[in-house]
Amino acid sequence: MGDEAILRLLALPGSVRRASVSKAILRTLRETAPALVAIEIFELDDIPIYNQDFDHDPPASVRALRAAIKAADGLIVLSPEYNHGMSGVIKNAIDWVSRPGYASILANKAVAVFTTSESPLGGARAQADLHKMFLSTLSRVAPGREVSFGNTAKTVVDGKLADAALLKRAWALIESLLAEIRLTQGE
Ligand SMILES: Cc1cc2nc3c(=O)[nH]c(=O)nc-3n(C[C@H](O)[C@H](O)[C@H](O)COP(=O)(O)O)c2cc1C
Repeated sequence: MGDEAILRLLALPGSVRRASVSKAILRTLRETAPALVAIEIFELDDIPIYNQDFDHDPPASVRALRAAIKAADGLIVLSPEYNHGMSGVIKNAIDWVSRPGYASILANKAVAVFTTSESPLGGARAQADLHKMFLSTLSRVAPGREVSFGNTAKTVVDGKLADAALLKRAWALIESLLAEIRLTQGE
């Protein structure tokens, strides 16, 4: 038991605004993580618009994102729903780190996907988008009951996810992510 390694999860919020609900929920997950799980939040504010010309010489912010993804055992991606899809912030960041196609740092990387919106649906329409994108990068999307954080005017209070049932469901999906990581790392 005592020699179990800490699993390092990198969390990407799909919104860059200061009062972002996505960021607040990820902070709550970070604060409620069990002892052997460490969650680092990587904010995407400095990631420029994707330009294929720079695939081999990306800006420093993209290099930092690539390094953080490479070092992480798994990813947590939480996107707000924008116009019935994932946010451009997430799509843009993933486009940068998805090269070379089918052989990028995302190949075989375990990922748990989440969405949020202020509506009761919680951005559920963007979930399929995230699944489809990570199919193309050959990532391993953790199986489990979908978690969409909705009604956020009520469920996110003072910068924290205050809905215990939703938090429990989120951790059930992250447990599935941890199982996927152990599977892919051959334990
Ligand atoms: C450009 C834009 C488009 C949006 N489109 C949708 C949508 O299609 N469906 C929905 O439920 N909410 C939509 N919303 C609401 C956002 O999902 C909601 O405000 C979310 O909390 C934003 O995430 P954030 O708090 O992390 O910035 C939209 C918001 C913006 C700014």
